[in-house]
Amino acid sequence: MQTENLAEKQAWKLLENSILYYQGRPIGTVAAGDSSQAALNYDRCFVRDFVPSALLFLIQGRYDIVRNFLEEALKLQPKENQLNAYSPGRGLIPGSFKVETINGEEFLEADFGEHAIARVTAVDSCLWWIIILHAYVKATKDINFALQPHFQQGILLIMELCLATRFDMYPTLLVPDGACMIHRRLGIYGYPLEIQALFYAALRAARKLLICAGDEEIVRGIDNRLPLLRDHIRHHYWINMNRLNAIYRFKGEEYGHTAVNLFNIYSNSIPYCNLTSWLSKHGGYLAGNVGPSQLDTRFFSLGNLMAIISSLASEQQSQAIMNLIEEQWEDLVGEMPMKICFPALEKEEYRILTGCDPKNMPWSYHNGGSWPVLMWLLTAAAQKTGRTSIAKRAIEIAQIRLTNDQWPEYYDGTRGLLIGKRARRYQTWTITGFLLAKELIRNPAHLELISFGEFDLDSASQICEL
Ligand code: GLC
Repeated sequence: MQTENLAEKQAWKLLENSILYYQGRPIGTVAAGDSSQAALNYDRCFVRDFVPSALLFLIQGRYDIVRNFLEEALKLQPKENQLNAYSPGRGLIPGSFKVETINGEEFLEADFGEHAIARVTAVDSCLWWIIILHAYVKATKDINFALQPHFQQGILLIMELCLATRFDMYPTLLVPDGACMIHRRLGIYGYPLEIQALFYAALRAARKLLICAGDEEIVRGIDNRLPLLRDHIRHHYWINMNRLNAIYRFKGEEYGHTAVNLFNIYSNSIPYCNLTSWLSKHGGYLAGNVGPSQLDTRFFSLGNLMAIISSLASEQQSQAIMNLIEEQWEDLVGEMPMKICFPALEKEEYRILTGCDPKNMPWSYHNGGSWPVLMWLLTAAAQKTGRTSIAKRAIEIAQIRLTNDQWPEYYDGTRGLLIGKRARRYQTWTITGFLLAKELIRNPAHLELISFGEFDLDSASQICEL
């Protein structure tokens, strides 16, 4: 009990120290406060990293920080189409920003990917921005904040970007590799689950918030897209024993409308031996990626957990995902909740799909490393499915190690026993992931900030539901 309180006390203090100030106002939190290493880009406020901070501030009633964050990030959103193809597109929200000073004057410097390693574009930040805005309105009940014309325009621009006419004809969002939390090459280009789950949640949130933007076409676009996206994911991404049996006997090369194997998945590309012994009778999960002749059978935690929280996964599927986490505890949770993905890419696959990335060696960092930040998503999903014992068990494992290890960014090894090879200490979202998990357990009502019920067209826009 004593250690527990100490860990929390320390974590709150560290969160306070991570707050980023701009022109005297708090506007976000920096990624890490590790003074033993050069800051590199960890002194920036990453939009995705700020999510658990934002939810904690909302829970504490410290609305100003979240409001300032939403406002400042919105100011950084390009409002015009760029003539230069190297510039960020209209509607994007930067992956991160930083306070710079020139001639004694502060300004915000945004990074949409033009500074990032490998120049990857963060697609997730515009989706997270809408999700945070929705949570802010829910917490404050101040719908007028989101109704301000510049906010309505901001949401519209993001929706325009997401719903734009494209080359492909799927309801899912086509993105390059490294467009989300995994922002290095890891073979997740195409239609990665994490982006689809965030896309779904952002569409749900935007549908509630777009009230007086006066753009009927976008609202119709959202209403059309939501059920298609949901059904596509529930059907084509789902893997359990039944589904595996069907895929195993798939015919290939089916042409025309009557095709059953819609994506022409070649049965030999699926690691059946491993999967049949890993998938229990009652377990299942959403695949990492589905595209032409591609079914990525890796388990990605953020996507699966967010699918539960946003009701992108059906109720039955959500229970099956939690069953799998419980039954494959050693692989998915191990000694530090929880694996970012499972299993790791090894040998030839590692070389080809990561481009020999030394940071993403098997069972390290994004490639099968363990990320304590995922604890809050695990807790939220556990609460949503009524499986809180899973979350409590995970938090218990984490709390003593996290303080002793000085809140590392990630852990390595098949069970997460090693502190990440190049992990920062005092990583803010490790701290907030733990604190938020604790707060969710303490008061399950907080789940409302981030969760959505089953989509129903009739009540899609009801403001009273906010
Ligand atoms: C890591 C993560 C990324 C995060 C960044 C800052 O590299 O992969 O998702 O935003 O660090 O913490």
